[in-house]
Amino acid sequence: MADNIIVKLENVHHGYSIGSNRVEVLHGVDFELAEDKWCCILGASGSGKTTLLNLVGSLEKCDSGRIEVGGRDLSTMNRRESAMFRAQSIGFIFQSYCLLPELSIRENVMLGARLNGTPAAGAAEKADFLLEKVGLSHRRFHRAAELSGGEQQRAAVARALVNDPPLLLADEPTGNLDENTGQAIMDLFCALREERSRKQSIIMITHNRDLCRFADITMELSGGKLRDFQEK
Ligand SMILES: Nc1ncnc2c1ncn2[C@@H]1O[C@H](COP(=O)(O)OP(=O)(O)O)[C@@H](O)[C@H]1O
Ligand SMILES: [Mg+2]
Repeated sequence: MADNIIVKLENVHHGYSIGSNRVEVLHGVDFELAEDKWCCILGASGSGKTTLLNLVGSLEKCDSGRIEVGGRDLSTMNRRESAMFRAQSIGFIFQSYCLLPELSIRENVMLGARLNGTPAAGAAEKADFLLEKVGLSHRRFHRAAELSGGEQQRAAVARALVNDPPLLLADEPTGNLDENTGQAIMDLFCALREERSRKQSIIMITHNRDLCRFADITMELSGGKLRDFQEK
């Protein structure tokens, strides 16, 4: 039986206009990710990796083509539906962590659960559970801005997992970290994935080919198209 497909892109085109200048970034991307698979995407800076991830994460709508996530056509959702969908189904991890600096890391993690409708007490419980898993229990009442980069990314991993999403989207998650700290983040990521018996689909963008050894498939974005890089 064919694997279930969680992410499907068909002939996706996307670009940006600035004044009279038009930049075409994606020129007909076709892609399928089977459930519970981990895909790494490589590509030069400016090749459109973040654009692609933002489209799959329903942060932007593609100009043309079709994107389905979990069987849902993203183009049919209004803003409110997209926001609900993101909160329920997708965990984001960004290169620059994107925590709210004035909130404690516990509040940052709780926020993801609150946006998904979890009452405050339940959200706090989930946040504490995950912050222990990522080794930050002792720092949970510290403001995000007081933490190091590696600690902030550990908190961001906890935030991404708080709603137990079927799909994780990570945009150069170790890109701002030194090698050892980046390795620690990847070890944590892999350990958490093992804990849930690899029942999670991941798209991870990276510049670092070493990280691709963790993935089931590696693709490369170039010339506005996504191609197989190597298959394990
Ligand atoms: N919001 C935007 N407005 C205008 N141009 C953008 C915008 N986002 C990205 N771009 C342009 O699209 C191209 C691809 O960007 P991006 O997806 O960020 O690439 P990557 O993540 O691979 O470095 C770049 O030329 C970038 O300048
Ligand atoms: Mg990028």
